[in-house]
Amino acid sequence: MSEKPRTLSAVERAAGEARLTEAELLARIDNAPFGPKAQALAHRAARCESLGNVGWGLFPVAPVIERGEGSLLYDVDGRRYIDLLSGFSASGLGNCHPAVTEAIREQAGRLAHFFDFPHPERIRLAERLGGLSGIEGETRVLFGTTGSDGVESAVKTARFYTGKPYVLVAKGDYHGASFGTVGLTSRRGMNAAYFPGGTDAHVGFFGFPHEYRASLPDPEFGGFGMEALDELERSLKGTFSPYADGSGNLVAAILVEPFQSSSGYYVPPRGYLKRLRDICDEHGILLAVDEVQTGLGRTGKLWGYEHSGIRPDLLVTSKTLGGGLPLSALVARAEVLEAWRPTAHINTQAGNAVACAAAHVVLDLVTAPGFLDEVDRRGERFKTGLDRIAARHPSLGYIDHTGIYLGLEFVSDPVRKTPDPALVSRIRTVGLQRGLLLDHGGYFGNRIPLIPALNIPYELIDETLAALDETIGEAEEGAS
Ligand SMILES: Cc1ncc(COP(=O)(O)O)c(C=O)c1O
Repeated sequence: MSEKPRTLSAVERAAGEARLTEAELLARIDNAPFGPKAQALAHRAARCESLGNVGWGLFPVAPVIERGEGSLLYDVDGRRYIDLLSGFSASGLGNCHPAVTEAIREQAGRLAHFFDFPHPERIRLAERLGGLSGIEGETRVLFGTTGSDGVESAVKTARFYTGKPYVLVAKGDYHGASFGTVGLTSRRGMNAAYFPGGTDAHVGFFGFPHEYRASLPDPEFGGFGMEALDELERSLKGTFSPYADGSGNLVAAILVEPFQSSSGYYVPPRGYLKRLRDICDEHGILLAVDEVQTGLGRTGKLWGYEHSGIRPDLLVTSKTLGGGLPLSALVARAEVLEAWRPTAHINTQAGNAVACAAAHVVLDLVTAPGFLDEVDRRGERFKTGLDRIAARHPSLGYIDHTGIYLGLEFVSDPVRKTPDPALVSRIRTVGLQRGLLLDHGGYFGNRIPLIPALNIPYELIDETLAALDETIGEAEEGAS
């Protein structure tokens, strides 16, 4: 590393985020609440891995985890953490679930991978996913490895099928950070941070509604009402119509997260997806739902979209699906995916046999009778405890909650709803010291999503709530 502190580039200034200087980086590592092995490895990571990695943004220094067991993680010094990230849902059923691990071992000894070609596990998985997707009529499945490539495939095939260029996405949605998806992603700062990389030229954005900030008089922190969808409809007859009379439109698909996850676990008002479905139907547009994070039980239903009583045309799933291994699947109405000729699409690592074997166990578990009811019960246990915490700490201004989909919003003034990102930053630091692995987000940097495993034991829920209560208290004291 160079001795000279690096300076801000124009892009970083635009994104509002400063690059780390070497001195800041070393101070972060030296002050991290880790043991000697983790400290040493963090120094090595800083010298060999990209500082653009999310770990350097989520934590001052990410803990170096060696072992996972259900909802617990252990770092290289044996420190115990409650996993409230679940790999952003990639470990949605906990770390090293015994049945998933067994299936992985067994399949690895039989067939690990067969290029992007069919094998028994994969064919059976496509059949199961098609049936479970809830998409009307015949379906087809296209496998991939990551959420991003699943989304890219959805956009590619929607454009090819319709012959139209535009994809409309909600502001704040996260659909990936790969070259093909970052233009669709408007989560705080991520799109700007990609400059001068290419972004998608044919993307339009519309506002994502959220009840807590729908009707705030303060324009700086409000304006998240459903009227955003009126504006979207107007734009279809204006911006996206090639004709002066507003007829027709050049929109292939509306692509949305049913609930907005990476931005901070926001639950939209009930009518959100229904209104989008109606708009799509009226204007001949495909509706694609990105269930990469909301899917497979997180919201207490198999898919997040089910809360709205609609059916999508395309659905992307990943994360929890692979039981900890990389796997994604695009499920679509048959005619949409069949528009492609053979070899139109290829992905060497797609539909890996070991990952497919793990996915079967995941599907067995999340579709087992009573599983989703249990998700709801665990979510309720969290919500009851969080309400008690909010009563003691008015800084916890709002709690988004559906199933175990939990987003906590922190404010310095509960009446004006003034965001408190500094408090969130202290909560994360104190939480890490207390062994809580917490995410953060929010349009104003003032939210903490809780993303535990869907089967987190009740005693760990209670331990989390008690630790969170103390953590918030200590973080609040830090402000005075
Ligand atoms: C809703 C959503 N879509 C897409 C992605 C991208 O998935 P991946 O990181 O596996 O490419 C994510 C990742 O967080 C996501 O939450």
